[in-house]
Amino acid sequence: NEDGYDLWLRYHLVADSNLLSRYRDAFTHIVVQGNHVVLRSAGAELARGLSGLLGRSIPVRDQIGKSAVVVGTKVDNTLGPEGFTIKRRTDRVEITGAGERGALYGAFRFLQQLQRQRPLERLDLTDRPASPLRMLNHWDNLNRSIERGYAGKSIFVWDELPGLRERYVDYARLLASVGINHTVINNVNASAEFLRSERLPGLAALAGVLRSWGVRLWLSANYAAPITLTADQPSPITVADPLDTRVQQWWQDKIDEIYRLIPDFGGFLVKANSEGQPGPLDYGRTHAEGANMLADRLAAYDGKLVWRSFVHEGFDDWAEYEYRVFHPLDGQFHANAVVQTKNGPIDFQVREPVNPLFGGLPRTNQMIELQVTQEYTGHSTHLCYLVPEWKSILGFQTHTGTGSGPTVADIVTGLAYDQENVGMAGVVNLGDDRDWTGYQLGAANTHGFARLAWNPKLSADEIVTDWIELTFGGDRQVVSVLKAIMLRSWSTYESYTSPLGMGYLTYPLGSHFAPAPTTTQNLSHHTTAEGTGFDRTAATGSGFTGLYAEHWQDIYGSLANCPDELLLFMHWVPYTHRLRSGKTMIQHIYDSHFDGYERVVEFRRAWGRLAGRVDQARYADIAATFDAHVIEAERWRDTIVSYFYGFSRIVPTGTGWLQL
Ligand code: GCU
Repeated sequence: NEDGYDLWLRYHLVADSNLLSRYRDAFTHIVVQGNHVVLRSAGAELARGLSGLLGRSIPVRDQIGKSAVVVGTKVDNTLGPEGFTIKRRTDRVEITGAGERGALYGAFRFLQQLQRQRPLERLDLTDRPASPLRMLNHWDNLNRSIERGYAGKSIFVWDELPGLRERYVDYARLLASVGINHTVINNVNASAEFLRSERLPGLAALAGVLRSWGVRLWLSANYAAPITLTADQPSPITVADPLDTRVQQWWQDKIDEIYRLIPDFGGFLVKANSEGQPGPLDYGRTHAEGANMLADRLAAYDGKLVWRSFVHEGFDDWAEYEYRVFHPLDGQFHANAVVQTKNGPIDFQVREPVNPLFGGLPRTNQMIELQVTQEYTGHSTHLCYLVPEWKSILGFQTHTGTGSGPTVADIVTGLAYDQENVGMAGVVNLGDDRDWTGYQLGAANTHGFARLAWNPKLSADEIVTDWIELTFGGDRQVVSVLKAIMLRSWSTYESYTSPLGMGYLTYPLGSHFAPAPTTTQNLSHHTTAEGTGFDRTAATGSGFTGLYAEHWQDIYGSLANCPDELLLFMHWVPYTHRLRSGKTMIQHIYDSHFDGYERVVEFRRAWGRLAGRVDQARYADIAATFDAHVIEAERWRDTIVSYFYGFSRIVPTGTGWLQL
C-alpha cells in the first residue's frame, strides 16, 4: 500500500537483480550481541528491513555463521556515546555502537545503505552525532488537537493510555531511524493536567515504548501547575513563586514521583511569561531564578530543564525583546539548564536574520528551536523545503568570539564553549494522518531536521538526495527532478509571499496561512505611499541592529551594505530605491511575486513529468498538492501586489502582465 505511511523506512525488494543476489549471499542471518532492549530493537529492525529488501525471511540467530549481520557494542572513545561503525569483514558485517543507541543508529544506517542500493564495497562507514540533544517538540494538546499542526490529530491518544497503539512503535522507529533521542510530547502552552498523578502511569507506558528505541520522553510543564493541581485540596497552594518553599516542595515531590515511574525521564520544557503563560516574572523573579528552581530538582536524576527564550511582550519592537531579557542573565543558568531560542527574533518567518541572542549567551547552554511544522510557510499546502534555510542559519558567523566565529552550529553542537547540554529542537509536523505529515513531501522537513541535528555540516543537496532515494527509490529522473523542485521551494515561497525580508504579512491572530498585509502594519512593516520596511537601525530606528557584533552592525545598519534578502527587515526604504540589480524596490516586489508564482506552476509541470516513475497513489496525491499550491501561490501574489500598488500607485513595468 503506497499511502505514505512508511515514510523513508521503506523496505521493498531491491530492484537491481544483480545487487539483490549479492546482498542475498552476503546477509543470511542476524546476530544480536547483548540483551539490552535497544539492541533487541536493532535486531528486530534488521530482521524486518532485510527480510523486506531481500524478499525472504532473514532470521535473528544466536550463533554467528557465514554471512551474518552482527550488531553489538564495544567501548570506543573516538565514537562518543552514540557513534557507530559499520564494517564488512570477509564473512560478515559488523555493526558496532559505542553504546546501545549507537548500535541502533548503525543498524538503521546499514539498512538505509541497502535501501539506496549501495554496492557491498561501499558499506563501511563510521559516524557519530554532532549534538547531544536532538529533540522533537510536539505542540500536542490534551484534546489531541495540535497547535500549528496540519496533519490531523495528535498521534498520542492520551485517554487510552496506558493502552498502547502499534503506531507508537512506528513513531519511535521513525525517530530512531534518523537519530532523534529526545521528544517533548505536549504543547509548550502546557496544560498542568499532564502532570496530574493519574496521568503519569499512562505516560510511563509511552516512555517505555520510546525507551526501547533509545528515545527519552519529556514533558512541557505549566509553571503554575502547583496552583492548578492543588486547587481542590484543603490548603491549596496559591502562588507559583520559585522561591516559595511550598512551591519548591511541590515540584520536588512531583519530580520524585515522575522518576519513580519513568527512571529515564528527560526533563521539562518550559514556556514562561510569554503569550499569557505564567512564570517567575509574576512574582518578581527572573527567568534564571525560575529555571534554576526546576533544574536543581531535576539534576539529582540526570534530568534537564529547557527554558524557552521566546518572549515578546513589553517593547515596541518585538525583535529585540528576547535579547534584552536574556542577555543580562548570561552565566546565571545552572549546568543542567538550557535556553532554547527560535532561529530568528520574530517567529519562524520565511526569512529573518539570525537571532542575535545566540551570540549573546556564551556562558549559557543553548539549543536552537526550528519549526518543522510549516506554520508560516504554507501549512501542508505549499511545498516549502526548509533545509536550505536551516543551513543558512546554522552556518551564520556570529563574530562574537575569536575571528568571525563561532557559528550557530558551533554553539549548538557544544564546540564553541565546550558544552554538553546543547542541541537542536524541531517543532514537529507529525500527526495521526496516514502519511504522518499532512502532505507527503512535508516528511522531507522532518527527515531534514533530524539529519541536520545529527550533522549540521551535511549539505541540503546530500540530505534531500538521501530522503528522495529512501522515499521514492533511485530512479535518476525522479531524483533529479524532485531535487531541483525541493531545493528551490523555500526561495520560491519567499518570493511570492514576502521578499526582501518583509516578513509577517499574515493575520497575527489567525491561522498564519493566507496573506493579510494590512493586519501587520507597524508590527512588521510601516507601509506608506512613499515606501515600506521597518527601520531597525541603531542610527535612526529601533536599535535592533545594535544587538549584533560590530561586523554585523556595520552591514545591517547600512542601506548600501545590507543584504537584499533582509533589506526591509532592517530598513525603511522608498519604493524608488534601487537595489543592486538596478531595479527599483517596488519593481522587485512586483517581479518577485510573479516569478515566484510561475515557478510553482513549473514545479507542478515538472512533477507531471514523473508520471509512471512514481507509484500511482503517491504520484496522484502529490500532484493534487501541487494543484492546491498553485492556487494559493496565486492568491498570495495578487494580494501582495495589489497591496503595494494600492499604496505606491506605481505601475509595474516591463512584463505586460498587469493591465491597469
Ligand atoms: C507562535 C505560534 C504559537 C506558539 C508560539 C510559541 O506564536 O503562533 O502558536 O504557541 O509561537 O512558540 O510559543
